[in-house]
Amino acid sequence: MRVDPGRCGPTPLSWQEALDDGRQELEEAQLALLASSLGGVFAWPTIQRGRMVQNLLPVESDREEQSGHGSVALEWHTEDGFHQDRCRYLALLGIRNPDRVPTTIGTVNDVRLAEGHRSVLRERRFLIRPDLEHLRQLARYAPDSEMLRRAHEMYENPEPVALLFGDPEAPSLRIDAPYTTALAGDGEATEALAAIVDELTRAQRDVVVGEGDVLIVDNYRAVHGRRAFEPRFDGTDRWLKRMSVAASPLSKATAGAEARVLAI
Ligand SMILES: [Fe+2]
Repeated sequence: MRVDPGRCGPTPLSWQEALDDGRQELEEAQLALLASSLGGVFAWPTIQRGRMVQNLLPVESDREEQSGHGSVALEWHTEDGFHQDRCRYLALLGIRNPDRVPTTIGTVNDVRLAEGHRSVLRERRFLIRPDLEHLRQLARYAPDSEMLRRAHEMYENPEPVALLFGDPEAPSLRIDAPYTTALAGDGEATEALAAIVDELTRAQRDVVVGEGDVLIVDNYRAVHGRRAFEPRFDGTDRWLKRMSVAASPLSKATAGAEARVLAI
């Protein structure tokens, strides 16, 4: 895509600063048009205040965080793997990435598993808890909300899920290693989980999203993460834009979101 890093300005020092500055409208509009062609775009109210196009950039106070604002290695994961309405696709656009910091990708196609493990992974014998970023943001912005109560419920009392699902010949996948466990006392599920974690770790490969590059991740087939890097916080750090695309067509409730994107 056409990206003009000069017009976009220096990499902001926080996502809030990026939202306040409208200099990336052309870049965001291009990404929004592309993402909208894949399905219904949406955002979580808990991430960057519900902004449809989000900013992935290093934030000094978040260096150690497992998020798009950290700079330690971001462990591979399905985006929002805990949630049944997680995105189908993630679209990432590079504004700048002069150090060529890689995104990591591993797909279910690359995973070699014993048949026994495969069938256990298709059963509802696993728990995926929400990552703490959602809970932190909700506690800050909506401490008395029903959403926060539900998010706590998902954390404390998650529903058992299968990690592989869909077509047995070409299964889909949901997993977020640090937040996924087997049901208590289920030795077979623990073993199958360890097997798929090992395989996905082995299968990771690097993809550099550079200036003007778009990476579309199929969130039902691939996990993604990021290598560790050394940020400078001087306006030249890696900066990507991100959008989420839903699996199902837009419902009435989300149709307004589409209008918001097209109004960028
Ligand atoms: Fe992610």
